Amino acid sequence: MIVVPGPASTSLGEEIAKLLSAKVVGVEHKTFPDGESYIRLTDSVRGEKVVVVQSTGPDQNKNLMELFLLVDTAYRLGADSVIAVVPYLAYSRQHKEYRPGEAISAITMAKLLKSLGADGFVTVNVHDESILGEFPNPVNVSAITQLASHFVEEGMAGAFALAPDDGAVDIAKEADSVLRGGYGWLEKTRDVITGEVSVEEKRLGIEGRVVIIFDDMISTGGTVVKAAQLALKQGAARVFAACVHPLLVGGALDKILDAGVEEVVGTNTVPSPVSRVSVAPVIAEALSKQV
Ligand code: R5P
Repeated sequence: MIVVPGPASTSLGEEIAKLLSAKVVGVEHKTFPDGESYIRLTDSVRGEKVVVVQSTGPDQNKNLMELFLLVDTAYRLGADSVIAVVPYLAYSRQHKEYRPGEAISAITMAKLLKSLGADGFVTVNVHDESILGEFPNPVNVSAITQLASHFVEEGMAGAFALAPDDGAVDIAKEADSVLRGGYGWLEKTRDVITGEVSVEEKRLGIEGRVVIIFDDMISTGGTVVKAAQLALKQGAARVFAACVHPLLVGGALDKILDAGVEEVVGTNTVPSPVSRVSVAPVIAEALSKQV
């Protein structure tokens, strides 16, 4: 197995390779003046089982195009097989048609990877597992135990794990299996046109408690802000936030901190100022089972 760290995941790819004792393939890349991406593999991949590691956080379109170029080039240069490791899968939130006529972008991603011939697909806490079957030999690993363990190491064992919506209940449950302070969830609705988030008032029984909001991703921060406001209103003593994919667009981090969240912790699926937990060990473990 050899590892090709894509431009969006250079250090993560190298960390995974190190854990697998696998060779790292050099990647030369640049952006042409008109915005198009250039990719060149600087080492041979002929006859090898190749693992391409390329996350697709912002700039999503550029990172996706580089992913497709890397997978296709590895095959063209004679790779025996190619596994696409896409720690954060862009376009995964549109996994169904909310309004008639919408593109189902998550399925489009799967079709593109399949049509390039990818033999396998590894991702981390995919937004909705229902799309996984569309991908070639999919593996979806979770980084929630690692995130929760980080908080335990920081002295937060016994904290209450809060899911900001019912889609994150399993995440809060998994976090609770480490924190052991109980878990709960909120009922969130998002306007499909404006994106505005509203959260239903719900008694959580968290007075005086340390609360950690767990979600798969933080984008604008709107979801975490609403959840934090509600937790503080109900008497939470301290509120933290944790997510796997810290997209943190448009001043999200400041917005969340201003809402009273003490600290935000994310993983390195998307490099960010809060990426304190590495997903390399869980990805390396999943890959080692595939050899
Ligand atoms: C939605 O279902 C996701 O799990 C996240 O809650 C959401 O994408 C976060 O987005 P934002 O930070 O913009 O509220």
